[in-house]
Amino acid sequence: MGNHLKLLFPPEEIQLAVNRLANEIKRDYTDKTPLLIGILKGSFIFFSDLVRALDMPLEIDFIRAASYGDRIVSSGEVKITKDIDINIKNRDILVIEDVVDTGLTLDVILEHLKTRNPASLKLCALVDKHTQGQLPVKIDYLGFSIRDGFLVGYGLDYNEKHRYLSGIYVMEK
Ligand code: IMP
Ligand code: MG
Repeated sequence: MGNHLKLLFPPEEIQLAVNRLANEIKRDYTDKTPLLIGILKGSFIFFSDLVRALDMPLEIDFIRAASYGDRIVSSGEVKITKDIDINIKNRDILVIEDVVDTGLTLDVILEHLKTRNPASLKLCALVDKHTQGQLPVKIDYLGFSIRDGFLVGYGLDYNEKHRYLSGIYVMEK
């Protein structure tokens, strides 16, 4: 895979999407103090932009999952390599993910969180790739929909590269 990057979503467009999501979330969590759980590492920039746009009482934690094998094509084995630290029983949980591809990562993480009896459990994702055969994960708040391509920038990486870019790019061969 080469390193030709084509700009897909410029920073201004991402900011609009983040503000829209923040407004939707704020409206739904009035008088609540949700606990936002970011999935490391890809969501870190989206997560912090969203928190700032939300500008409401909330708490944060992080979880990390690793899937083994080639990252371009998910290998189907997902393990939680860093768990949350906060007790989520009876809390309103909002999981923040960067990209939903096969849905495997979220499937594992959401099932894991459910066993700890949160009051509610919702999902906010920056991008849904609508990958063929994607597991049925319900995305409550979605930034962008795409059909194909591998994305980098705005926290997203290819072999740890390109995370620092402020826009979202498609990798082209
Ligand atoms: P899934 O388990 O197949 O849904 O894969 C989800 C994880 O793979 C996400 O948390 C991303 O970190 C990573 N991923 C999937 N597609 C892309 C992409 O296009 N660019 C960067 N990371 C991706
Ligand atoms: Mg990820």
